[in-house]
Amino acid sequence: MCGIIGYIGDKKAAPILMDALKRLEYRGYDSAGISTINKNNILVEKDIGKLEEIKEKREKEKNINFEKIEGNVGISHCRWATHGSVTKENAHPHTDCKNMISIVHNGIIENFSALKEKLIQKGHKFKSSTDTEVIAHLIEDNYNGDIEEATRKALKQIEGSYALGIICSKEPNKLIAARNESPLILGLGDKENFIASDVHAILKYTNKVVYLENNEIATLEKNNYSVKNVNGKIINKKINEINWSPELAEKSGYEHFMLKEIHEQPRAITETLNNRIENGNINLKEELDLNDEELKKINRIIIVACGTSWHAALAGEFMLEELAKIPVEVEYGSEFRYRNPIINENTLIIAISQSGETADTLAAIREAKKRNAKVLSIVNVKGSSIDRESDSVLYTYAGPEIGVASTKAFTAQLVVLYLFTLFMGNLKKSLKKEKITDLIEKLRKLPLQMESLLSEENDIKKIADIYKDKTNSLFLGRGVNFPIALEGALKLKEVSYLHAEGYPAAEMKHGPIALIDKNMPVVFIATKDDYTYKKVLGNIHEVKARNGIVIAIATEGDEEVGKLADYVVYIPKTLYILSSILTAIPLQLLAYYVAVDRNLDPDKPRNLSKSVVVE
Ligand code: F6R
Repeated sequence: MCGIIGYIGDKKAAPILMDALKRLEYRGYDSAGISTINKNNILVEKDIGKLEEIKEKREKEKNINFEKIEGNVGISHCRWATHGSVTKENAHPHTDCKNMISIVHNGIIENFSALKEKLIQKGHKFKSSTDTEVIAHLIEDNYNGDIEEATRKALKQIEGSYALGIICSKEPNKLIAARNESPLILGLGDKENFIASDVHAILKYTNKVVYLENNEIATLEKNNYSVKNVNGKIINKKINEINWSPELAEKSGYEHFMLKEIHEQPRAITETLNNRIENGNINLKEELDLNDEELKKINRIIIVACGTSWHAALAGEFMLEELAKIPVEVEYGSEFRYRNPIINENTLIIAISQSGETADTLAAIREAKKRNAKVLSIVNVKGSSIDRESDSVLYTYAGPEIGVASTKAFTAQLVVLYLFTLFMGNLKKSLKKEKITDLIEKLRKLPLQMESLLSEENDIKKIADIYKDKTNSLFLGRGVNFPIALEGALKLKEVSYLHAEGYPAAEMKHGPIALIDKNMPVVFIATKDDYTYKKVLGNIHEVKARNGIVIAIATEGDEEVGKLADYVVYIPKTLYILSSILTAIPLQLLAYYVAVDRNLDPDKPRNLSKSVVVE
């Protein structure tokens, strides 16, 4: 969704606001803007386009640069349009009639039409068609010399979700922040304070953060801050120290975050395994806030997630049923709460989310909790809403994921699901000790195997060339690799805008085979296993017989697939169940290089946002 940064301190606000905003651009990049207070005047600069495009355009026109705007307090915003099309007028910040209040907003104001009508009747003049501008006028309407109080009064009339940054020309030593359903944190520095939608945007400046909860309003000054509820009651907040290094949020020489994050997977997996393997067994006891008795009783698991995390859930279903012998269902977060899910005291809900802020997944968790289910989440961002609202959390230690298309978080999710599977298998005695030892041994090899796979990158770059004049692609896989086929298709769609579909390989003959001709690249995940390998070879023959182009992901040393396919990428030998963690990587690289070949920016695919905080 949109990204928000706010600054108050001794330094010039604009360069800091713009620097931090760059790190939030994955949240929205159709327009951007900044507002500061200089000599008791509100200054606003905004435009449409990505930050770099805006900068270039303005430099060409010898217009003012966002970074040059004066003032020691300010707010900035990058937008992912919801209400109102992509125009300069609709870009944030938005101001009131008197240009006294300037605000940035992430979220959706549901009753904005009714509020707008009332404000127009009172004589307020609107400049944009956004829901956000209503808030600026509403605060103006309630202003009586105290911006914090006016904000509180305004928010009492608002229905919907918001993260807000507010400045007022009459009180230039204050920066106001407020939150309901959309994420917002405070960053506490030395003689300076910040607000941000995401922690990594301000890690360069401070690692001390306070998480705002729903219906909380913060007033930040240069040297202090306070947090109150909507009724003005002071709330004592915990200060959290974040241990992510700021470098993790930079590109470190890679052309795009997506490529950097694909290459970070061996490290992400190593960190995700750290301290979780002990004496030949999986130890999650200290992390799980559920005791052994509660866990042993679980006889059914429902996994809820969206998008890529939903694909991880499907692989998790396979792992948990195959090894821990627990029945699993997988649900889209968005669908779960609109059905009547059957849940009892022995049902465990697992929610998977990289950002920990996905509104659909969060809504599913709340629904499950209403029905007294225990919720265990697999989350990458500590302190996120899903982290805080779950009964128990297992983190993926992938580090900040900035590329909009999820890569390293996905494989880290698969690893956590595998760890949980072995842990439960041991607890419920569905896995023998010797089997667990073997499963762990193979798991430990993954980071090194990933590294060797990543060194084959150039082969994948060449395969990407064949997509130059193509418009469609099929991705086929079976068993634990069927979710990877879905994920491969999603990655290609997202970053290259090619149409792609994922199917279980055997389903091809039930319809998709009609699409096959010489222009159809078909990606087969055809790794060697005792289950369906032979059948997949049969499917490859079927595609070749219809002149389709076959790209195979195969197990090293497999000459049979090598002879059949037009292009092959080999993955190192591993257990069937772990192969999905490796097969995902060539498909991520394929999507990346197809996007780059088509001159697209894989870090900022059109219409998408990293963190989908609206339902
Ligand atoms: C795809 C992608 C999305 C997310 C989905 C859920 O590359 O990133 O499909 O997976 O929006 O996001 P999280 O995992 O943050 O809940």
